[in-house]
Amino acid sequence: MTMYVEREFKGPKIADGKTVISYYIYEAPLRLWHWLNALFIVVLGVTGYLIANPMPSVPGEASDSFWMGYIRFAHFAAAYCFAIALLGRVYWAFVGNQYSKQLFLFPFWDLQWWKEVMFELRWYLFLEPDPKKYLGHNPMAQFSMFFAFTLGAPYMIITGFALYSEGAGVGSWQDKLFGWVIPLLGGSQNLHTWHHIGLWAFVIFVILHIYAAVREDIMSRQTLISTIISGYRMFKD
Ligand code: HEM
Ligand code: HEM
Repeated sequence: MTMYVEREFKGPKIADGKTVISYYIYEAPLRLWHWLNALFIVVLGVTGYLIANPMPSVPGEASDSFWMGYIRFAHFAAAYCFAIALLGRVYWAFVGNQYSKQLFLFPFWDLQWWKEVMFELRWYLFLEPDPKKYLGHNPMAQFSMFFAFTLGAPYMIITGFALYSEGAGVGSWQDKLFGWVIPLLGGSQNLHTWHHIGLWAFVIFVILHIYAAVREDIMSRQTLISTIISGYRMFKD
């Protein structure tokens, strides 16, 4: 039978003969942003898909239903929230702790960091027996978050507001700020396609991201999912 003895001990916590050390990594605004951002992206993805692939006509009197209107409204409302939340997240990178900056900056010139990206890739491919442990994001996570999210989110915002400017009209702020994107990407139809491709890039990122988070949580003997909920990372062994 395992015995658990609660002791007043300020250092690492000892439970069942194993050491569990916890560090505070992700501060509350970052965690709140993560989950709100995930919600906005799910709404944007589902409504965006429906904008591109509208439902067949619904039965009943046409003037009683406003489905496409609601779907587009949800897309635009989530889009504004997504863009404003990203500005808030950029602000937090300036005032938050060192881990809050990892999403935007990575040590591009550090060869050791790139070697660790490759190590993580091998670990994810089951080619390394033991995981490395990191306080913030592991290098592979940081690399994929930077290329998929940090570059991908502004891309969706720029192409999205350029599309929006077509409805808002010439002279609107959307047109003044983002209207130039339409000719640059080859006109309205191509802009729709470029924005649409972004959906599938995000879908791929989210699938890999959730898979990696669950896999790491189980296999790497350090907490992941509870860390992005509570802020604390715990290390076993
Ligand atoms: C649309 C869905 C999601 C998106 C776009 C997304 C995006 C992100 C981003 C950008 C970060 C970096 C946070 C930062 O440094 O500010 C992050 C971290 C994280 N996310 Fe998500 N996320 C999504 C859903 C989820 C879900 C459903 C889970 C849980 C299964 C999850 C688990 C995590 C974990 C564990 C981290 C921290 C990883 C680490 O400590 O290295 N995410 N996510
Ligand atoms: C992760 C973020 C986003 C995803 C996944 C997404 C997805 C999509 C998709 C798949 C479409 C249909 C494109 C087509 O095939 O014609 C669409 C349309 C559109 N999106 Fe987004 N979008 C995102 C962010 C944004 C943002 C930030 C805005 C800014 C306002 C925006 C504004 C629009 C507009 C105006 C349309 C065209 C609506 C229409 O033609 O009725 N989107 N979006």
